[in-house]
Parts: sequence; C-alpha cells; structure tokens
Amino acid sequence: MVPDLAKLQEHYAVAPSDISLADINLEHVPRHISIIMDGNGRWARAQGLDRSQGHKAGVACLKEIITSCVRLGVDVLSAYAFSTENWRRPQHEVDLLMQLFAHTLVKELHLFTEENVKLVFLGDLTVLPKKTRETFELGLERTKNNTGMILALAVNYGSRAELTRATRLIAQEVAAGSLDIEKIDETVLSNYLYTASLPDPELLIRTSGELRISNFLLWQLAYTEFYVTDTFWPDFDRWELARALVSFQTRDRRFGGVKS
Ligand code: FPP
Repeated sequence: MVPDLAKLQEHYAVAPSDISLADINLEHVPRHISIIMDGNGRWARAQGLDRSQGHKAGVACLKEIITSCVRLGVDVLSAYAFSTENWRRPQHEVDLLMQLFAHTLVKELHLFTEENVKLVFLGDLTVLPKKTRETFELGLERTKNNTGMILALAVNYGSRAELTRATRLIAQEVAAGSLDIEKIDETVLSNYLYTASLPDPELLIRTSGELRISNFLLWQLAYTEFYVTDTFWPDFDRWELARALVSFQTRDRRFGGVKS
C-alpha cells in the first residue's frame, strides 16, 4: 500500500530523542506484520491495577498500532488476541475478554470505515459466545468491501488446530475424489489455512520479552524475522513499532540462500 505522506508525518510528528520517522525506509516496510500482544496482565500488576484494566489498555494500544500500520502503508496486520489455549484462563477472565472483543468491535467499527480497513478472523469462531460471534460477523459484513489494510485478528486460533483442520479438509477432498493426492503441495496446503489469501508475515513482533511462538502461525512464520521487546503490550506505541521496523530493515534476509 502506498502511504499518505502528509498523514504519516502528522501521525509521527512528535518524536522521542532516539528515533524519528526519517529512520524508517518507507520503501522497505513489511507487507505483513504479525504481533503477539503479550504482557497485559503484568502491565496491570506493575501499575497496581486489575488484569482487566491491562486488557482494556491493550485494546487502546491495538488501536494506535492499527492506525500506525495504515499510515505506514502496511498491507496486512495480524494480531494474536485469543489462543486455543487461552480457554484455560479463569472463567471470569475468559468472559471479560469475550465481552471486551464484542464491545470493542462495535465501538471501533467507525475506525475501520474511516481507515478503509478490512477485517478478517483467523481461528474457529463457531465456539465463541453468541454475542461475540455476532459482532465479529457484523464486523466482517461491514468491512468486506474495504480496500485498504487487512486486519487479521486471531481469536480461538492455534496453529496446530489450523494445520489439523487443513489436513482434515484435504483428506475429505481426496476421499471425495475431487483432489488428486499427487497434487498436494505447499501451495495447496496454504490454501486450506485460515490465512489462505494473505502473504506470509515478514515481521513478527512479540512484546513482554518471552522467546516463544506460542502456537501462532507455525507454518506461515517459516522465514519471518522476529523482533522481541521487553515492553509490555499496553506500552507498545507507534514509536516502539518504528523501532521494530528499523531493526527489521537492518536484517539480511536470505531465505536459505546465500548473499548475492
Ligand atoms: C496477553 O496478555 C493478551 C491477551 C490474551 C489479550 C490480548 C487482547 C487484546 C489486546 C484486545 C484485542 C481486541 C480485539 C477487539 C480482538 P496476558 O494476559 O497474557 O498478559 P500476562 O502474560 O502479563 O499475564
């Protein structure tokens, strides 16, 4: 996506001392940025707040990063909001997150319209609470004709579940005689993943210092550059994103080959 320079400069006008917009090569912004948003709970504890306040602050932060990615001309932003393992959290926290997702989706629909953002979901939405599922469906419907950045929210997403589902779907096609087993290759498998229409991420950002993938996009991250920061998610702002981009732009990406 070609960034709107005037809007980008306005968004990044007030710079901290260590970095400025001029440090980012706008010709070399990743097409797809993925984020593991981690540290809401620890951020809240550090402020003497309830975990729920951490998740609310996390939503505000996600809004800032969505706008920043739009300004920078990113094509796809994917964010890990709720994993297949997150159901193990205390029921009241699961309920709170599901309510927060539903509430945020409705409240922020105008942002998606204003910014021309198309919403997609990664994960099995069928088991979500009815209200959450319905607001997600509303978000999909309202943004389906938007032509700007794609926001891929991973909710009830797990990479192993995604690959298992793809395997099952492919096996069904083979059993039905509509897919020749010899035709199954990496492209075919990719087409059965939730990310079928999306390019692979070029940059994965993980906040709060953990050095794990946590069952996120295992297939899609094969050649992705990782950026891990100790900053908790609610403190990850447009300048933290800028630092991640500057780091990404210093990397020598060879995709298993050698330097030319
Ligand atoms: C991880 O922090 C964060 C989450 C499990 C939730 C992230 C969700 C949002 C920021 C809101 C997304 C909004 C929409 C509309 C989908 P943690 O609780 O694991 O933090 P901790 O590791 O410090 O305990």
